[in-house]
Amino acid sequence: MAPLHIVILAAGQGKRMRSDLPKVLQPVAGRPLLAHVIDVARELNPEAIHVVYGHRGEQVQAAFENQPDLRWALQAEQLGTGHAVQMALPAIDDEAQVLVLLGDAPLMTAASLREVADEAAVGLAVLSARVPDPTGYGRIVRGNDGGLTAIVEHKDAAPEQLLIDEVNSGVIGAPAWHLRTWLDQVDRGNAQGEFYLTDCVSIAREASSPVKAVMAADAEEILGANDRWQLSQLERLWQQRAVLKLCNDGALVLDPARVDIRGTVSVDAGVVIDVNTVFEGDVALAQDVIIGPHCVVKDCQLGPRTRVQSHCVLEGVTTEGNCDIGPYARLRPGTELAVETKVGNFVETKKARLGKGSKASHLSYLGDAAIGEGVNIGAGTITCNYDGANKHQTVIEDGVFIGSDTQLVAPVTVGQNTTVGAGTTLTKDAPPDTLVISRVRQTVIEGWEKPTKKK
Ligand code: UD1
Ligand code: CA
Repeated sequence: MAPLHIVILAAGQGKRMRSDLPKVLQPVAGRPLLAHVIDVARELNPEAIHVVYGHRGEQVQAAFENQPDLRWALQAEQLGTGHAVQMALPAIDDEAQVLVLLGDAPLMTAASLREVADEAAVGLAVLSARVPDPTGYGRIVRGNDGGLTAIVEHKDAAPEQLLIDEVNSGVIGAPAWHLRTWLDQVDRGNAQGEFYLTDCVSIAREASSPVKAVMAADAEEILGANDRWQLSQLERLWQQRAVLKLCNDGALVLDPARVDIRGTVSVDAGVVIDVNTVFEGDVALAQDVIIGPHCVVKDCQLGPRTRVQSHCVLEGVTTEGNCDIGPYARLRPGTELAVETKVGNFVETKKARLGKGSKASHLSYLGDAAIGEGVNIGAGTITCNYDGANKHQTVIEDGVFIGSDTQLVAPVTVGQNTTVGAGTTLTKDAPPDTLVISRVRQTVIEGWEKPTKKK
């Protein structure tokens, strides 16, 4: 088999998006369109992936830096898809097999692309699909024998051709030397004054090379995004596929239309996901994890039977299992919860570890804190970790009871089994097995009279 070179066209501006961001950087599922296309390209294990870039090219390149398998070909002026492919060809040997993908179509599957690549070993093959609304797409024109004869762009199509509902996906495969010869013959004599890659079809046919349109099994996979509306539709389609995968992996998703996955989520059996949660980054949910409604969960590893109640925001959190979180908890990066811990409503944590069985049930800030086992953190406890210049650590050892409304001015340590009385401002280490209290003693003034309003 000839080595496979994939060329991804990503130089266009995407005027119809009405955005400063180049089209291929517009997000689907929180990642650039182009990232999805590169993902599927990699699945084919090609010899090389060439990205043709141009409009706001530095921005596009910067979004994919440190990916050494990508080769970049500059198209300084966007003169059309045929011209774009020509920019990549000098880096590709004649013997190679070329597969062209569009950087704005993120739903393509490796299976369909493989089929096109196989067909393209001897001639030209394109991926097509029947769509309910072909507006804007190039139309697949077939001859009397049903074979592909030409692709006509929407703007160049005759009225009867506009009725054709089989459209071009933009994916084209061919041997490199063929493509080179055909592209040399493409001109700009069309409605848009561009070098159309799609003109290769009629040119190849005239040269008696085999040409073929492979129809995608699922028409949705060829959809591209030219404007905002199409981008939103791609987002929904992408999400549907992601949720289906979650369900197949064993999650119960209460409403598949009301969960968003902007990254990767892995689930074990028994996971339940209630409505309106957004997942970002890499999330792993172990067996029987429950995510309540309206949460944001980013880069978290939640252990078995962790229960996250409604309206929680979790980022960079690890739980060992059987933990209770929320409602209304905000857990920031570096939060580690050992088994049977509880972080309740209006509690914020950051770089904080809670040991086995420890609880912070209400209204607290725990930052830069190492909290042992069996600790109870009263409502209104604050670790004062920041002195205006530096962050400092609070250590709370096993079995400690922190009374409500306590400030722990870090760096500070509370020794094992100590009780800190409510309202304490702790500025010095508290020794173990003691009661430490810093509030003013209560005084009672007998016979005190309330002031009365002057007449
Ligand atoms: C193209 C196809 C059309 C197909 C449709 C599928 C051509 C002539 N038309 O039309 O048959 O139905 O895609 O979505 O091929 N690009 C460049 N350089 C350029 C022009 C475009 O890199 O000079 C890139 C764009 O960044 C984009 C892709 O090529 O990722 C497609 O360009 P676009 O302008 O969206 O083509 P369509 O008009 O949609
Ligand atoms: Ca397009």
